[in-house]
This record gives sequence, structure tokens and C-alpha cells, in this order.
Amino acid sequence: MNVYDAERMADLLAPIGYEAVDTPDAADLVILNTCHIREKAAEKVYSDLGRLRRIKAARSQGGAMVLAVAGCVAQAEGDEILRRAPYVDMVFGPQAYHKLPEMVARVHREQGAVLDTDFPAESKFDFLPKPEARGRYSAFLTVQEGCDKFCTFCVVPYTRGAETSRPTDAVLADARNLAAGGVKEITLLGQNVNAYHGASPDGGEWSLGRLVAELAGVEGLERIRYTTSYPAEVDDDLIAAHRDVPALMPYLHLPLQSGSDRILQAMNRRHGADDYRRLAARLFEARPDLALSSDFIVGFPGETDADFQATLDMVDEIGFIGAFSFKYSPRPGTPAAAMPNQVPEAVRSERLRVLQEKLSTCQARFNARAVGTRMAVLFEAPGRHPSQLVGRSPYMQAVHATAEAELMGKIVELDIEAAHPNSLSGRLPMDGAGARRALA
Ligand code: 5AD
Ligand code: SF4
Repeated sequence: MNVYDAERMADLLAPIGYEAVDTPDAADLVILNTCHIREKAAEKVYSDLGRLRRIKAARSQGGAMVLAVAGCVAQAEGDEILRRAPYVDMVFGPQAYHKLPEMVARVHREQGAVLDTDFPAESKFDFLPKPEARGRYSAFLTVQEGCDKFCTFCVVPYTRGAETSRPTDAVLADARNLAAGGVKEITLLGQNVNAYHGASPDGGEWSLGRLVAELAGVEGLERIRYTTSYPAEVDDDLIAAHRDVPALMPYLHLPLQSGSDRILQAMNRRHGADDYRRLAARLFEARPDLALSSDFIVGFPGETDADFQATLDMVDEIGFIGAFSFKYSPRPGTPAAAMPNQVPEAVRSERLRVLQEKLSTCQARFNARAVGTRMAVLFEAPGRHPSQLVGRSPYMQAVHATAEAELMGKIVELDIEAAHPNSLSGRLPMDGAGARRALA
């Protein structure tokens, strides 16, 4: 979502004359869009600010550099940032960035810094320009923001605020605009995206499942994904969408966090390991070619070797094809940070190593299984070699193939020939049917 938000900030700044540059050296305005989810991400802000301070101070010609901190670190630590880094000109949270043009004007007008970490009553989406395709074939689209789940380790409910859903017609209008510009694949975004319940024109509300079904009817849109979802809120509509909507890709990021019921309870996850097993079984039944990926936290307070083993066992049992895994990071103001039985750093590191080794074996096994199969790939970019293109399989695997440039932006059936650590290579079927179909 930070990638999406940064694009939207650029969209807001374009009409007042800003365009993107590659390095901060020549920039009139630098915005650090920050993440507060783990300590490492948050601390990085201060080291980056130190570097930018020197660039700003060295600037003697071409006007001053305006330095801004946006995103969730700004939301959580606004005053602290201005205290620790008084050379920062603007600090604003993720719900305030629609006011960027006004904030830029204020900085130029006034002496002193601008701080905006309110949760405004209006929705920023009502102030953002329409998202444009800009030559992309795959785009993000925020449909939901915030979270009311309060997992005990997580800062999101505090930094992104309460759950809100964009109205269905606004989402459909954005999707149509992107598709008209050539976008073939849309990833619907939300911190808890399946809590989506957007106001619909008939005066009711649509679930995420209903929204996905309607989006599948948008002219030109061929692939739909959504992330990140919360297991306890996957409803019948969403499972039905996986069964009935071919454009909904058979790949779902459904974070489990831990395989231990005790830890899941301490995390306030509102589901146990068995609930997850049953849910996975229903999803696989609805869409037999579905694959799941997850997030995991190791070393949550009180996690024993047996709890950790339960996580490893679930990885084998569910057969995740990939996952993001993290050492537990105590976050200020969250209940877990105050729990007494914190796990030593050395234990957290070792568990992370063991889990990541297992997960990379799972991923390699899944990639190897693709060899010899035929997969639909959306070509999105030139490959490493001049005659190559690279694209994504339904499971987000990067696939390289020798292909004509005219197949860029097309979904093409490829025969997968080899699996590499982070990608696959394929070739157009000999009979030319795949390319003919894609170009038709
Ligand atoms: N420590 C470690 N990982 C965390 N995550 C969220 N909060 C923390 C934390 N305090 C992870 C979760 C979540 C992902 C986005 O980040 O796994 O799903
Ligand atoms: Fe954080 Fe996700 Fe839990 Fe919400 S559901 S509190 S975003 S981990």
C-alpha cells in the first residue's frame, strides 16, 4: 500500500509542477514514505533523514529542499520526528496526504514545520485524481483501509486508523479507468481487505466477494487479486468468488502468523489452527488449483519450542507456496510489547532461520512442480536479453521467455521449461496457438 500511496502523492503533486527525479540530489521536495510495522523499518527513517539533512544543508543554488516524512512513522511519531530532526519541514500521516498541495504552499509561505497527523472526517479518496495506467499492465487499487482487529503485536489499527471501505462505484470507476488505459490485472488493497463492505448504489453494501464478481465484468480487466486478507473474515461470498470468477487468480495471501493455538490466542487472532485448516480446505474445494501463502511471526512473547514446532508443522500440512516471515518486534503502545515473557533475540533469530529454510524449500518445490506444465503468463516488461519478455504466472512467479515485443501486455500460454531460485523460464508452444490466441 505504501507503493500505491507514493504513486498517489506523485499524482497530487503533478498538477502543481512537480515531477519525479531519480535521486534526492536535485530534488526540490523529498518525501520519505515510511512504515512503522517493525522497529527496523521505523529506525531506518532516522538514518535516511541524517543522509538527507546533509544534502539539504549542502544546497546553495537552485532553492531550498523541502523535506517531508509521510506514512505510518509520521503518524505514530510526528512530534518525536520534529524533535529529533528539526530540519524536517512537513510531517503527515497516511490519511492526510490529499492535503499535500496545500501543505507544500504552507511550508513555502510560513516559517516553521507543518504537522498533520489528524484522522480527517473527509476521505482522502474524494480529493485524489483518477489513477492512470501510465503504461502498466498490472496496478494496485486501494479499496479498504485501516483495521479494527487489534492483534496484540500490531500497530496498524493505531497508525492507519479504523476500518473504512470505499464506495463500490468509486472502485469500479477507478478500475474502468485503469483498464481503459491498458491495465489487465488489478490487485485490490486493504490492510484487512476482506473486511471490505463498500456502500453500493442500491443503498446497500457489497462484500469483497461481490465486488470481485462485479470487477470481473470490467471491459479489458483479465486478472484480479486482493491482499491482505484476515482468515477469520473470509466469508461465503468470497469463497464463492474463488469458485465462480475465473479472473480471480488462484493464489491467496492468507496470513496465519503462528501454528500454535496458544500463541494465536495471545495474538488475539480470533481463529485457531483448526479454523485455518477448515478454511483452507473450503478454499481448495472451491478452487482446486488454489495456492496459499502466509505471513509468520516467530518469537512472539511466550512462544515455546513446541509452539514453534506447531508453526513448522502447519507449513508442511497446508503446503504454503511462499511466505513472509519476521522476528517478533515489540512495538510501542501494543499489548504484546508489555507481555512479560519476551523471547531472547538469539532464539528469535534461530527460529527465523529454521522457518525461512523450510519456506524456501517449499517455494522451490512449488516452482519445480511447474516444469512441464502450461501456464498463462501476463507479459509485463522486457527480459534480460533483447528478445525476451518477462511476466507473471497466476501464482506471481516471474517467468522469462523468448517472445516478440508485440506480446507485451498480453496473457500468453507458455510451456514451463525450467525452474530457477526466483523465477521460471518458459517458451511459446511450438504450434503457435498460445501467441495467436493472445494476439486475437
Ligand atoms: N513484529 C513482527 N512482525 C509483525 N508484523 C506485524 N506486526 C509485527 C511485529 N510487531 C507482520 C505480520 C503481518 C505483516 C504485515 O507484518 O506478520 O501480517
Ligand atoms: Fe494488524 Fe492485520 Fe491484525 Fe489488523 S488484522 S491488527 S492489520 S495483523
